[in-house]
Amino acid sequence: MTVRTRIQSQAVAAKVMSAEDAAAFIAPGDHVGMSGFTGFGHPKAVPAALVRRAADAAARGDRFAVSVWTGSSTAPELDGALAAVDGIDLRMPYQSDPVTRAKINAGTLEYLDVHLSHVAQMVEEGFFGHLDIALIEVTGVTADGALIPSSSAGNNNTWLDQADRAILEVNAWQPAELDGMHDIYYGTALPPDRTPIPILRAGDRIGVPHLRCPPEKIIAVVPTDHPDYPTPSRPADGDSQLIAGHVLDFLTHEVRYGRLPARLLPLQSGVGNVTNAVLGRLDGGPFAPLTAYTEVVQDGMLQLLRSGTMTVASATAFSLGEDGLAELRADIAAYRDKIILRPQEISNHPEVIRRLGCLAMNGMMEADIYGNVNSTHVMGSSMQNGIGGSGDFARHAYLAMFLSPSTVKNGAISCIVPMVSHVDHTEHDVHVIITEQGVADLRGLPPRRRAQQIINHCAHPDYQPALQDYLDRAAATGPGKHTPHLLSEALSWHVRYLKEGTMRR
Ligand code: COA
Repeated sequence: MTVRTRIQSQAVAAKVMSAEDAAAFIAPGDHVGMSGFTGFGHPKAVPAALVRRAADAAARGDRFAVSVWTGSSTAPELDGALAAVDGIDLRMPYQSDPVTRAKINAGTLEYLDVHLSHVAQMVEEGFFGHLDIALIEVTGVTADGALIPSSSAGNNNTWLDQADRAILEVNAWQPAELDGMHDIYYGTALPPDRTPIPILRAGDRIGVPHLRCPPEKIIAVVPTDHPDYPTPSRPADGDSQLIAGHVLDFLTHEVRYGRLPARLLPLQSGVGNVTNAVLGRLDGGPFAPLTAYTEVVQDGMLQLLRSGTMTVASATAFSLGEDGLAELRADIAAYRDKIILRPQEISNHPEVIRRLGCLAMNGMMEADIYGNVNSTHVMGSSMQNGIGGSGDFARHAYLAMFLSPSTVKNGAISCIVPMVSHVDHTEHDVHVIITEQGVADLRGLPPRRRAQQIINHCAHPDYQPALQDYLDRAAATGPGKHTPHLLSEALSWHVRYLKEGTMRR
């Protein structure tokens, strides 16, 4: 099917033009709401034209930059390329690109790290200023002007509603069979007019398959034929396999003690190698049929759907590696009824997550002995990626699990520390920490007992003596300490990594 046949609306087809001409509608300093969530569903041609504009401006000693609002991270051809030519003033709400990260940490690119479920309402409330342009990739346009979404839903409905003007990219590479996979909900409102989100099961559909946009708002339509960017993946290493094994043992234990049903509760699985390994281990395992109410569909989840271990996955986007993407495209019709892509305000909605009782599994940078978790910052100051949806899920999950190797950088850095250098998830929101060493179940434990659990079960043996010594001395420094700390020493722990490279004994 050619791109022209994908644009059934005459009014929309009349706006077809080149990417350069479309990009010319975007002024320096504009706020641009782009589609895109992971490397899926981002606009491909107009951002490339913006990169050329920014490079030309730089060559003239001038600057061309815009604010880039998206669903989540995008691909290097968007985030990385635009950041490299200083074409981004401000970025939100999540990124995972090395070039963007370097500019953020150099202080030359402003970054707002926002809970993904909050973005739509904050934009509607006007907290971030006015949205000038929506730049959205779609799969096609129906005869009555409805937009068939592409491989991510993200904030696209919000961008199209809130922006003054819209530019569409119609990507013929996207499978036409995506039509019908999405569930776009238009029932949200701001307080005091908010009503319940009527999702009672992960597989419930409550919206419509298409995005709406008044034709008069559409100022340009750019045909493209360009692939999504598969999520880079590594084969699961030994630590990931051990962590996955501990997660399965823990879930089995919870079922045995009647705290979880035998088919579990809807799964949420965060980004990264470790969570993919957990999904792999669930395939054909004791828990079935599974469901997912999550943010992204990764390769491991596609495999669960393929084998029938999982019946339905609700998400906002795909985050597939090359193999998963090939599998999806080869058999997409078979997946259409098993996958629901919703706006991220709904996929990550606290009300729904709490109601369904999601089992949240997310990665982390480090946890402290009391259970506070840092998901975002290296050494308290350098942004890695962002909080993404981890807070949306952890705070409201039935069980909030954080998974990580106990050390990184070949053992030189312990991911269990006396006090985290940055807090994303407080001790109140963290139920279980799992490393390759074991499981610390923190539920129902006061601080000193939590600390002992984490040191005994999650810390690497090389770091256990130093952590135990810290806890013992902090606890011995007199009364009046519910959560014992030696503040100057706790805060110097990270600095000692820098000085000594290691604290192992
Ligand atoms: N101190 C210093 N560096 C650390 C560290 C620590 N405590 N923990 C990890 N790192 C480094 C790693 O060594 C690696 O460095 P490298 O790129 O130089 O090799 C880098 O941080 C990324 O770690 P990695 O193990 O590759 O990450 P991952 O793919 O397992 O992801 C997070 C871990 C925390 C970065 C990731 O889960 C994340 O971004 N979380 C926040 C968002 C989120 O949870 N989203 C899901 C919601 S649905």
